[in-house]
Amino acid sequence: MKKLLFDWFSQKKRDLPWRHTKDPYLIWLSEVILQQTQVVQGLSYYLNFSSKYPTIEDLANAPEDEVLKVWQGLGYYSRARNLHKTAKIVTETYNGIFPNNYDEIRALPGIGDYTAAAIASFAFDLCYPVLDGNVSRVISRMFGVITPIDTLAGKAELMKILNKQIDKKNPAEFNQAIMEFGAIQCKPRGTLCETCPFQADCYAFRHKVIDILPMKKNKTAVKPRRLDYLVCIEDNHIWIKKRMNRDIWQGLYDFPETDKISKNWKLLDICEHQLSHQKLTISFWKTEKLPEKLKSSAQKVPISQFFEFATPKPIHNFAIKNQLITNSVEKKSPNVKKL
Ligand code: ADE
Repeated sequence: MKKLLFDWFSQKKRDLPWRHTKDPYLIWLSEVILQQTQVVQGLSYYLNFSSKYPTIEDLANAPEDEVLKVWQGLGYYSRARNLHKTAKIVTETYNGIFPNNYDEIRALPGIGDYTAAAIASFAFDLCYPVLDGNVSRVISRMFGVITPIDTLAGKAELMKILNKQIDKKNPAEFNQAIMEFGAIQCKPRGTLCETCPFQADCYAFRHKVIDILPMKKNKTAVKPRRLDYLVCIEDNHIWIKKRMNRDIWQGLYDFPETDKISKNWKLLDICEHQLSHQKLTISFWKTEKLPEKLKSSAQKVPISQFFEFATPKPIHNFAIKNQLITNSVEKKSPNVKKL
């Protein structure tokens, strides 16, 4: 993951002023502002703040009213007050020198897990992964984390993955890169999967669940998954396929599956099907001709024999509902339609 991420970052990163400093005070300032607003708007506040208060002592010595005025427009004024209070603590208790270890940084007012990790890694190259909304989304999608990201269990799972993935030699770059990746590539909506270097590795992309991950609380922790079946009938025969892999429905028969949908296929039906750990959305596409590459793993059987094969429930239901088996002995549901 590191290599692809660093390559991506070196090509796509925005040139942002807080990326050119190792000063923990300026890094902290930028992170507090960026918790409050997007980069574009945050930038002018950062430039304004840092030119008015170039050092933590300048901030500590400023009257609170003035600090709040500079903060105006960002909202959430307790953040500004905490910033000011902490600047005073660092100035008085630490002689104006920002503590250089995670625990002391984390103990300062208004500094939570995320901000402490950001300062520790960006300013001191300490190996602490940052976990914010952007990073949670990236990891959840890439690794198929279905535990809601806004729960303790979800955060622990994401942290475990991050602790494995983080570049121990360059945690600062890794943290910057993954946040930037979440902000401009793996966005909440309108993701740029077409140009994403992780296509082949990304769980959500491979399973077409980009829109579903990350999960948030109150949603069932069941993996979403899409199946696209090709229903292909050729002179009274139908193409079916035996499920061989260690996957759902091993040994049962279903239809050939496809990753790409052709404009020439007609959507016959869509259904949802709940398994213990997966929620399937199944589409059935009618095609006149089975793509050649799918033929080797499939077999063509007389339609009249279809019900002799063990099929998963949604496949079975589809066949009945659509009167697939004309000569079959199976009960037909009242709501049938012709293929
Ligand atoms: N959002 C939060 N922290 C950020 C950072 N350091 N760079 C860009 N965007 C951010």
